[in-house]
Amino acid sequence: MSSLEEAIACPVCHKTLINAPQDCNQCHSYFRNEVAKMPSSSLDLTPARVKGEIEDAADAKPLRTELFRLPIISFLYERILPPIWAMGLRNLGGIEIEFQQCVEFFGENLGIVADISCGTGIMARRLALLRQCEQILALDYSEAMLGQLQQQMQLDGILLSQITIIRGDIAALPFAANALDAVYSGAAMHCWPDAEQGIRNIYQALRSGGKLFATTFLQPLPSIVFRFFTLDELQQIAIAAGFQPDSVQVETHGVYAIIRCVK
Ligand SMILES: C[S@@+](CC[C@H](N)C(=O)[O-])C[C@H]1O[C@@H](n2cnc3c(N)ncnc32)[C@H](O)[C@@H]1O
Repeated sequence: MSSLEEAIACPVCHKTLINAPQDCNQCHSYFRNEVAKMPSSSLDLTPARVKGEIEDAADAKPLRTELFRLPIISFLYERILPPIWAMGLRNLGGIEIEFQQCVEFFGENLGIVADISCGTGIMARRLALLRQCEQILALDYSEAMLGQLQQQMQLDGILLSQITIIRGDIAALPFAANALDAVYSGAAMHCWPDAEQGIRNIYQALRSGGKLFATTFLQPLPSIVFRFFTLDELQQIAIAAGFQPDSVQVETHGVYAIIRCVK
């Protein structure tokens, strides 16, 4: 189990504030200032920001990522989808069942748990209210989704000190290696530009014995905007990331898949 200062790393040079107490280069001085904002503000640890670059159209990611940056999508996301999920599209019984399954898999006395591609924080907020995690990190690429998360935290009475909110990119996670005790990544892999790279990065960030609970959707849903997987592909992605084959379990409910892995 590590502290937040040991877990959060610069996504460019991969150093934490602990192992680079002096500024190592330009990226790290931005990183230091950003981390100093904790716990009163969210952090932007996307590689472009850390490098001081201005995002422009040329930096746009695929539509399946960019869609979620639209304010209308983030506004409607949790207002529309949960009842549809509960009808069986996402797990049998919807998000509450998924929360129970996730908590059961993670076990008790959790240290640092990350909700990666947290969106509006459907799981991070439930974990915060459960009060069994030492630290909760909620990371997403979409500023709009993270804005909704902050609003919803206020409504739920969750303090900024209870969830560290990070704008980050699955392609360059701002976490040290072997730092996280558990990762939840719900309904996200099909939205990432590169799912193989994403699961590999999560594997690196998990400590030995750390757990990943991820969910996504399967073919025959057509991969037009999102990338949908076969069961075999999901297993291969987890194994290629580094998980041992016997510690990868994929469960399906129709076109919904739940992946449980232990590092
Ligand atoms: C369908 S939503 C899932 C939100 C939430 N986890 C849930 O369970 O409902 C997919 C999320 O993946 C995020 N995402 C897409 N591409 C990403 C990337 N490159 N890095 C981090 N998050 C990304 C989107 O911003 C969006 O919030």
